[in-house]
Amino acid sequence: MNLCVLGAQWGDEGKGKIVDLLTPQFDIVARYQGGHNAGHTVYVDGRKFVLHLIPSGILHPGVICIIGNGVVVDPRALFDEVDELAAHGIDVAGRLLVSDKAHVILPYHRELEVLAEARRGERKIGTTSRGIGPAYEDKIGRRGVRIGDLADQSPDGTLASAVRENVAARNHAVGDAAMQWEQVLADLRKVWPRLEPLVADTSLYLYKAMACGQRVMFEGAQGTLLDIDHGTYPFVTSSNAVAGGAATGLGIGPRSIQSVLGVAKAYATRVGEGPFPTELTGAMGERLRETGQEYGASTGRPRRCGWYDAVAVRYAVRVNGLDALAITKLDVLDGLDDLQICTAYRLGGKEIAELPADTAQLAACEPVYETIAGWRQPTRGVTRFAELPREAQRYIRRLEEISGVPAAIVSTGSDRGHTIVRDDSIAAEWFGARVPVK
Ligand code: IMP
Repeated sequence: MNLCVLGAQWGDEGKGKIVDLLTPQFDIVARYQGGHNAGHTVYVDGRKFVLHLIPSGILHPGVICIIGNGVVVDPRALFDEVDELAAHGIDVAGRLLVSDKAHVILPYHRELEVLAEARRGERKIGTTSRGIGPAYEDKIGRRGVRIGDLADQSPDGTLASAVRENVAARNHAVGDAAMQWEQVLADLRKVWPRLEPLVADTSLYLYKAMACGQRVMFEGAQGTLLDIDHGTYPFVTSSNAVAGGAATGLGIGPRSIQSVLGVAKAYATRVGEGPFPTELTGAMGERLRETGQEYGASTGRPRRCGWYDAVAVRYAVRVNGLDALAITKLDVLDGLDDLQICTAYRLGGKEIAELPADTAQLAACEPVYETIAGWRQPTRGVTRFAELPREAQRYIRRLEEISGVPAAIVSTGSDRGHTIVRDDSIAAEWFGARVPVK
C-alpha cells in the first residue's frame, strides 16, 4: 500500500522520524513540495541527521529517494546535503533522483524574499529566507528555470534567455544593476555536470516502479496549516503541503495514494508569524519549548508553543483524507498536572467547530478548552500503549475521539525505538508482519 505522510499542524510535527521509521516498508520515498525550508531531524543510533531537501529515506540503504517536480531546488543546498551525507558514509549515487521539472532556486530569490519581507514590515510572514516563495512565484509566473533547463549550454537558448530576463527583473526590483546575468548563467552551468547524473523523469520512474509493484511513500514537508491554499493564508508557505500536492508534485494519479498518515504533535507549535489560537506565551509555553527543544531545525528560531488544537487537526483530517494520525512528542507532556485540548473556538460570542477561512477571524478566535488530567510517570521510550500511564492513554484516546481518526503511531522519544505502533490499527497494514518495535 502506498502511503502519504504529511504534517497535520504547522510543520515540525516530527515527520522526519515517522518517515524514517516507516521507510523499511517501502522501496521509494518521494518528496513532493517545498524546498530546503524544511528541516527533518532523525536520530539513528544516537547520531543526529538534519535533512532539508533530500528525503530522510536516504538513511536506509537500498531505498530510492525522489525529489519531485513540485519541489524547488537550490543546487548548492542539495550538494551541501549530499556532501554532509557522504561525510557520514552515506552515498546517494544511484539512489537519489531529481525531477527534470523541479524548479531551481536562483541566487537572487533569497534576496528578493528578504526585500519583500522588509517591505511588509509589521505584516511580515516570518519566512525561512531560503528563496522558496520567489522561486514558486517565478514558476507560477511562467518564467522559472527548471532543473532540466540547466542542460542547455547554447549561448542564446532557453536557459540563457530566461536568466537574462529574470536577472533584468531582479535588477529592476532591487533598484540596482549589480547582478550580471552572464555571471549567474556561468554559475548555473557549473552545477550541471554534478547534477546531471541525478536528473530523471521522476513521474515516469514512479509510474514504472508502481506498475512493478514497488511501494512508495510520499513525503510532505511543512504542514497542512502552512499549505498555500488550505493554510492560514497569507501566513503560509508557497506550495501545497496537503495530500493532493503529492499527485501534482510528483506527476502521479491520485489513486496511487492509497493511504494518508497525518503527523501531529501531542501539543502544537508554529514558527514565523500568523494566527495560532492555542498559543501559550507565558511560563507553560516556555516549559513546552524547553522540554520539547522547540527551536527551528532549519533556522534555529524559537518555535511558538501551545496546546493541542483539535479544530486544526480535524481540519487536516478533512482536507487530506487522513486515515490515521501519528502523535509525536508525548513525553514532552510528562509531569504536567493538567493538559488542555482545544475542542472548538469562540468567535464573536459564538462557539464554532470549524477553522474560519479568514485569517483575521482566526486571529480573533479564542480556544475553548477541555481539561484533562496529566500524568506523573515518564512516558519516554515506552513502546507499548498498555504500558503508558493510564492518564496518557486517556489523553491519546481523547485526541483520537475529537480529531476523528485513530492514533496509529505514538512517539515517546526522539530515537527510532521510542515508538508505539498500535498493531490493532491501520499501521499494521503499513508495517505488514514487520512491526518494528514491541
Ligand atoms: P517559507 O516556506 O520560507 O516561505 O516560509 C513561510 C512560512 O512557513 C513561515 O512561517 C515559515 O516559518 C514556515 N515554514 C516553512 N518551512 C517550515 C518548516 O519546515 N517547518 C515549520 N515551518 C515552516
